Amino acid sequence: MKENIESVLQENRRFEPKQNFATQARIQADTLDDLYQRAEADHEGFWADLARQHLSWDTPFSKVLDDSQAPHYQWFNDGELNVSRNCLDRHLQERGDKTALIFEGEGGDTLHLSYRELHREVCRFANVLKNAGLSSGDRAVLYMPMTHQAIIAMQACARIGVVQSVVFGGFSAEALKDRIEDSQAKVVITADGGTRGGNIVRLKDTVDNALQQGGACVDTVLTFKRAGNDCAMQEGRDVWVEGALTHVDEKCEAVPVNAEHPLFLLYTSGSTGRPKGIQHSSAGYLLNAIVTNQWVFDLKEDDIFWCTADVGWITGHSYVTFGPLACGGTVVVYEGAPTVPDAGRFWKMVQDHRVSIFYTAPTAIRALMKAGDDYPQQYDLSSLRLLGTVGEPINPEAWMWYHRVIGAEQCPIVDTWWQTETGSHMIAPMPGVTATKPGSCTRPLPGIAADVVDEEGNSITTPNQGGYLVIKKPWPSMLRTVWGDDQRYKDTYWPMFDGKYYLAGDSARIDEDGYFWIMGRIDDVVNVSGHRLGTMEVESALVAHEAVAEAAVVGVPHEVKGESLACFVVLKGDRPEGGIDDAMTQTLRAWVGEQIGAIAKPDSIRYADNLPKTRSGKIMRRLLRAIARGEEIQGDTSTLENAGILDQLKGEQ
Ligand code: WTA
Repeated sequence: MKENIESVLQENRRFEPKQNFATQARIQADTLDDLYQRAEADHEGFWADLARQHLSWDTPFSKVLDDSQAPHYQWFNDGELNVSRNCLDRHLQERGDKTALIFEGEGGDTLHLSYRELHREVCRFANVLKNAGLSSGDRAVLYMPMTHQAIIAMQACARIGVVQSVVFGGFSAEALKDRIEDSQAKVVITADGGTRGGNIVRLKDTVDNALQQGGACVDTVLTFKRAGNDCAMQEGRDVWVEGALTHVDEKCEAVPVNAEHPLFLLYTSGSTGRPKGIQHSSAGYLLNAIVTNQWVFDLKEDDIFWCTADVGWITGHSYVTFGPLACGGTVVVYEGAPTVPDAGRFWKMVQDHRVSIFYTAPTAIRALMKAGDDYPQQYDLSSLRLLGTVGEPINPEAWMWYHRVIGAEQCPIVDTWWQTETGSHMIAPMPGVTATKPGSCTRPLPGIAADVVDEEGNSITTPNQGGYLVIKKPWPSMLRTVWGDDQRYKDTYWPMFDGKYYLAGDSARIDEDGYFWIMGRIDDVVNVSGHRLGTMEVESALVAHEAVAEAAVVGVPHEVKGESLACFVVLKGDRPEGGIDDAMTQTLRAWVGEQIGAIAKPDSIRYADNLPKTRSGKIMRRLLRAIARGEEIQGDTSTLENAGILDQLKGEQ
């Protein structure tokens, strides 16, 4: 980054933790200082102490960090444990009757499972897996609705050392087939169907379709009953789980595995190329998942924790299935859409289940904000004590709405920066200590050596100057490799700085208080007349206008300026005829000019009903870039949530 990315967005609001939250928080100012000091003084010793304190080991480790194969790092690698035993068995004595999981289906059906009940179901299903011929090290692909059954299946795989790969239930047959083949799974675990948005998502049909296209490695398809739709069952391959459960034992010993044993693979679609199977470990992964649940969410014995992410994403792994259960917490699992029967669903569920910690994505917050304040105001949200966000930078307007309308100005908001690859939170507030600023994920957690550097890897010391976000020391929950492709691992994450620093792929700046502000992905940086702008800042300015619900900004080549800004905007009201509205465009150009400066004024604005998004709600800028440049759309669009939107954006609808 020869010329540094210029930061133009200034946000000066600051929110101190409320006294009543601060006094009860697990992490107090002095504990936090102590954590930072210990991590700074002895990075390995710091993590080793936490690993002894928070994990139950079958064989204690004697080695902490093995960097002999760098950038492949190993943690605690002569120790043995079992993740499911750490999540379930170790709570049975103390909190066997405590609710581990509250499930709610889209239709309103609910189910509570205590730790003892969940443990029993996990053992039984693990025995089904064993009967299907699976043993430690084999792979299973899960293609499940977001139900208690998904959590049971994930825990059961972990229990016998089966390497699991959850594929989000919205992915296409082809995407599923690719992931099955890449992981060489022997078993697919699925359900007849799930319910979303009032429709049945016919999961088993998609599995059949995928296996028609390939996936010869699969010999068994275990099918849960959920939606009740009919499905074809292939003799000799397909098995109903409910039938298989009738003749298994309720006991299943957890199999100790090496600390480095892969707990799961999770495929992420990069902006180009085939998906990467991000490989995570057992012990290191679980350790960071546990400590971040305690540090950042302040998770305690009486909390009801609802993280709305699907288990098809990393957030659903670390903050639904594994982390909170390893802490003995109670999690809420919801199968359906946030807008069924209306945009009050989340808030009704917060009220009904007395949710105290609520964690969701900015895209959901913006969508619910757009629906209006009437919905949240109908419900009693007083059980909430902490709010969180993840997945993309949250624009200050959405942050303020979340703070004011959902949190009643009482709840700290933890804006958590992390990635599939990092396994757990890296940069986030400690809610009882850290003052928050809308739009900033605040400071790196203890033991996480995050920094912002220039092209040569030198720390950028000038406040607010943008650069590359890197992590300078290995941490326990880091990805271990890209499954079956060590070279891609090295090329993607360690290509610069002599392979010394982990390259996150995001640009960021650090302000005068040491707070981190994520500016977007490195490839979302646009160079306008020699000024490098993070597109997110322009987006944030657009969204701050009262007429705008959502915005995405991409760079297009420009003769004079190098690049210019092309914007796609979703208005709060109706879409203007033909996607063009000259008067509104003038207004918004002037507005961005005022907010950021003339340099950031968009050259073109197109209006749409929606933006192309991945199933996890990330705007697919690659597609918008192609549309703005009038290019053919290349590559995979099967991960798109709303494929029809492309035609509208191209002006064909
Ligand atoms: C973005 C999700 C700003 C970032 C856990 C990162 C964020 C990518 C934040 C990883 C945040 C995630 N503020 N940007 N709080 N959290 N991101 O792998 O660009 O789905 O690199 O993991 O999301 O997305 P992933």
